[in-house]
Amino acid sequence: MAHYVLHGPDYIADPYPTYRAMAEDSPVWLQPETGHVYISRYADVKSVLLDAANFSNNRVQDRLSRVPDDIPVQCLASILHDRLVMTDGPRHRMLRVKMRDAFTAARVRTYAPMIQEVIGDHLDGIDWSEPVDFLKEIALPIPSKIILLVLGFPPADVTQLRQWTSDFYNWLASSPDSIEVRTKRAMDATEHMRDYVADQLRNPPADSEDSLLGHLLQDESAGVLTDDEVVANLIGIVNAAHETTTSLMANSMILLLQHPDQLRLMLSDPSLIPGAVAEVGRLESPSQVISRVAAHDLDLQGVSLRAGQLVAINLAQANRDPEVYPDPDRMDITRGGSPPLTFGLGEHFCAGTALARLETEELISMLLPRLPGARILNEPIDWRPTPAFRCPRELLIQFSAP
Ligand code: HEM
Repeated sequence: MAHYVLHGPDYIADPYPTYRAMAEDSPVWLQPETGHVYISRYADVKSVLLDAANFSNNRVQDRLSRVPDDIPVQCLASILHDRLVMTDGPRHRMLRVKMRDAFTAARVRTYAPMIQEVIGDHLDGIDWSEPVDFLKEIALPIPSKIILLVLGFPPADVTQLRQWTSDFYNWLASSPDSIEVRTKRAMDATEHMRDYVADQLRNPPADSEDSLLGHLLQDESAGVLTDDEVVANLIGIVNAAHETTTSLMANSMILLLQHPDQLRLMLSDPSLIPGAVAEVGRLESPSQVISRVAAHDLDLQGVSLRAGQLVAINLAQANRDPEVYPDPDRMDITRGGSPPLTFGLGEHFCAGTALARLETEELISMLLPRLPGARILNEPIDWRPTPAFRCPRELLIQFSAP
């Protein structure tokens, strides 16, 4: 049986040849060490994402199985259980309705002036004569500030909230810290978030009635949502919103500066910016691999799956499927055609798609005057060693004077 190495420096630098071989030779591949099944063709990915009856989002057990038995995780488990992206069926629909209004395309358009102001103020504070640490100075702080303003948190609390949510997020992510240390931090962060939300309930921030935070707090006091559901989904949205958008912004700079013909095209016609962002998402999908578990024993194209077995869904390769995207590795900001699966598909389609696109498009549009002649100073790119998530570890850019 074919074997694919999904770790190591060569794979992290360029996972796509491995993915291409997997899609061609083993479209449903069982990884012997983990028992996870990989799918990577566009048609297969699409059909699994649209088949909620057979493939469940409840991966809580899988996540918890990574924590040693002697570490108490009960309070964290309940937060995982309540997260939108971990729920199925009617419960998922109930929670999703609560989030929906804040992120519709029409609502997101009303955030545009705020987004422009946050980005403009931020860019005004940068010393452009020096190399810019793009992640630290631009792509991390901007989405994080925007999502907290969209949710309705007081701007003064932004740094603290970001710390708590990332302590929770890092609990199950790969990190140099031990699982004991990460678990302790995640528990502390969750407790602080619970207290914080309780405080907000007692003293709602000014002008918050019409924000997502305001709506969630009203639902909580009316007994429609529990404390844990509110905390879990606030943490979930903040995490879902900033790391991924950071990556889309950074990958946009990388691909545009590495493809001067496409950059020139975009500079000559800025109406191509949305197409450029879609093409970046296709070629360097921030969420490379997402997952489902088999809802019951079933057969997936001749491979038997047991209930609970994990299916790794390779969005990155589906987005480079040659059956769907001719010459799939070529960057073409005018490509159009089938929508890439960058933001998923079906019931769990990313709730923040319109927001992430708008932020990234606005950022590129404000950076336009500085892009002709801009250079990446740390090539080859050092990518984070996290296969499910594609983002550089560092990105130094010398921008031009406008
Ligand atoms: C470039 C940026 C982003 C990318 C690539 C991205 C990607 C994704 C993907 C692939 C999913 C589907 C997960 C699955 O089916 O298991 C998802 C779900 C989700 N995303 Fe995003 N996302 C981005 C930005 C955002 C932002 C800005 C928000 C905040 C509003 C957000 C909130 C969510 C939520 C709440 C879900 C869960 C939806 C559900 O389960 O019903 N995302 N995202």
